[in-house]
Amino acid sequence: MNQLEQYFEQNQQRLMNKYQHYFDIYDRYFNSYRNKPITFVEIGVSHGGSLQMWKEYFGPEAIIWGIDIDPRCKSIEEDNIHILIGSQEDPEFLKTVFEKTGPIDILIDDGGHTQRQQRTSFECLFQYIKPNGIYLCEDMHTSYWNTYGGGHKRKGSFVEFTKNLIDQINAHHSEEASLQVNEFTRSANSIHFYDSVVVIEKKERPAPTSKMTGKHSFDTSPTKKNMVEKIEMHFLLKTNKVLQVLGMKGYAINRMISLCSKK
Ligand SMILES: C[S@@+](CC[C@H](N)C(=O)[O-])C[C@H]1O[C@@H](n2cnc3c(N)ncnc32)[C@H](O)[C@@H]1O
Repeated sequence: MNQLEQYFEQNQQRLMNKYQHYFDIYDRYFNSYRNKPITFVEIGVSHGGSLQMWKEYFGPEAIIWGIDIDPRCKSIEEDNIHILIGSQEDPEFLKTVFEKTGPIDILIDDGGHTQRQQRTSFECLFQYIKPNGIYLCEDMHTSYWNTYGGGHKRKGSFVEFTKNLIDQINAHHSEEASLQVNEFTRSANSIHFYDSVVVIEKKERPAPTSKMTGKHSFDTSPTKKNMVEKIEMHFLLKTNKVLQVLGMKGYAINRMISLCSKK
């Protein structure tokens, strides 16, 4: 049991409510931020128990911000714990959040859990996470609950939205206009999925480069046959690029795959 879970089990302070498997996930991503002057934000304050836990876990230099729609939460403020009252699905309010908090190291979305709330908060606040910061959305099982706007494979659910971000991470390798490098590609390093939780790690990311080191294990000097195949591959690639621009079906794709597998 890690220290966070120990704190939770022994908690006699304000009420909080967490799934037990979250503590390992939190500690895996947050441990290196302890005892540093970080800015931490949690959407969803409720009775304030989790904010007190974060204050204890991150130490005296951390500034803890809570966001909630319920104005009663304002009374939960104490040293190093600040509360902002507003809705996580209101982009205008979310803009003002950054004016107060400044760049954010870690953000947890544990708010109202509807698909729209999770998506709006991500779309508005991800840009304010520092390079090397973390965005964590929890209780994402609502993506499978009809009452929260979810459902298995339902278009617009937050889990379907985040699944598409996997493509965006790989966009540098796309050969199609439908998948282009964007700000997310440039600023997100990884996405991790757990039961009910998604964690996105930020990191400035230039286009990936590869290189070779070491020596050949067998003779690779070009033969007449593989020179011809190289020219054929070049021709097929060019032809298919043109067909793609014209919105037409690819030509001799199986032959290309067979040539590629000989590389
Ligand atoms: C699950 S509770 C938060 C629990 C708390 N983080 C904890 O661990 O104990 C969800 C909170 O989200 C708040 N909430 C619901 N809809 C919201 C919205 N649109 N914007 C901001 N907060 C919202 C509720 O008022 C409630 O306090």
